[in-house]
Amino acid sequence: WFSEVQMGPPDAILGVTEAFKKDTNPKKINLGAGAYRDDNTQPFVLPSVREAEKRVLSRNLDKEYATIIGIPEFYNKAIELALGKGSKRLAAKHNVTAQSISGTGALRIGAAFLAKFWKGNREIYIPSPSWGNHVPIFEHAGLPVNRYRYYDKDTCALDFSGLIEDLKKIPEKSIVLLHACAHNPTGVDPSLEQWREISALVKKRNLYPFIDMAYQGFATGDIDRDAQAVRTFEADGHDFCLAQSFAKNMGLYGERAGAFTVVCSDEEEAARVMSQVKILIRGLYSNPPVHGARIAAEILNNEDLRAQWLKDVKLMADRIIDVRAQLKNNLIKLGSSQNWDHIVNQIGMFCFTGLKPEQVQKLIKDHSVYLTNDGRVSMAGVTSKNVEYLAESIHKVTK
Ligand code: LMR
Repeated sequence: WFSEVQMGPPDAILGVTEAFKKDTNPKKINLGAGAYRDDNTQPFVLPSVREAEKRVLSRNLDKEYATIIGIPEFYNKAIELALGKGSKRLAAKHNVTAQSISGTGALRIGAAFLAKFWKGNREIYIPSPSWGNHVPIFEHAGLPVNRYRYYDKDTCALDFSGLIEDLKKIPEKSIVLLHACAHNPTGVDPSLEQWREISALVKKRNLYPFIDMAYQGFATGDIDRDAQAVRTFEADGHDFCLAQSFAKNMGLYGERAGAFTVVCSDEEEAARVMSQVKILIRGLYSNPPVHGARIAAEILNNEDLRAQWLKDVKLMADRIIDVRAQLKNNLIKLGSSQNWDHIVNQIGMFCFTGLKPEQVQKLIKDHSVYLTNDGRVSMAGVTSKNVEYLAESIHKVTK
């Protein structure tokens, strides 16, 4: 039956982990997927998550289905975390929020919803570059993907004028995907002032924002500061879609806890949209898993756990900031003649190194340093113990 099915390529990000696992070199380093590790390269379960899980388990809860849109104690707090306690749109009940299978699931629900109901230009514009999975997610739902300029290879920073020029040209009533913070893969975010300009232009051009917030807290270590883009869009009166993930900021990777929101023009529209979101979710996967959402809800609804969680987030963000400096300093110490300022200037989980695909392949083959072919390094895999070896390896392939 399937003799004509062609062999597909490994996933550009998760395929790196598969290759890493097969390598027997004791010095190997995995800088592929964005998953936080502690300074001993071990997976990190946040202390707040451990405690929340204990409390959840102590309640001996049943394993019944959640509702189609999940657990209210989770999804209501999730959207409050994004928009803030003082959000006018939340108070006015303009939001449709559903628990999702992490950030990818949120994007996929949004893609399905827009593919079915979007009446404008049926194209979504994503930054160039963007997270590798954005293209398949939207194309799978039947929304063609286009690009707008975002990153300047020469400066390793934001191509703000290119971004603005492109937003001016995109056909009106198109959907525009924006990374709320800690842009993946570049680690380059607009400033608040630039976000204000982007928001005003998106409004003026009648574009529809779909905001992907997979790293709230990971950019600066401050949950509220990292939400400034989303809150700017809300304050400017946009209606928009929002995808949230708790994989990174709570370390709930395999638990798949996230949320999808549509901020509608009024409560009545929200009720209609909610009915359709439920119909779509029911057909996609029926209803979401409960355990991760219960843990997240425990944290978000209890002051002591929430305070601990904010400390945990800061600890992770700070460790990454610290190893950025260590990597740059080691490269300088080795006498690298290249400019590595962008390692410390970029933020969040990733550094877009500027390494060429052939240099990446050399790093993998000759040094067992695994990263994605676009030169993205997951800084979360860099530690005080492997940073010297990493710097030496990078220096050797860039000399
Ligand atoms: C990444 O970009 O590495 C992470 O978001 C993990 C993933 O699913 O791709």
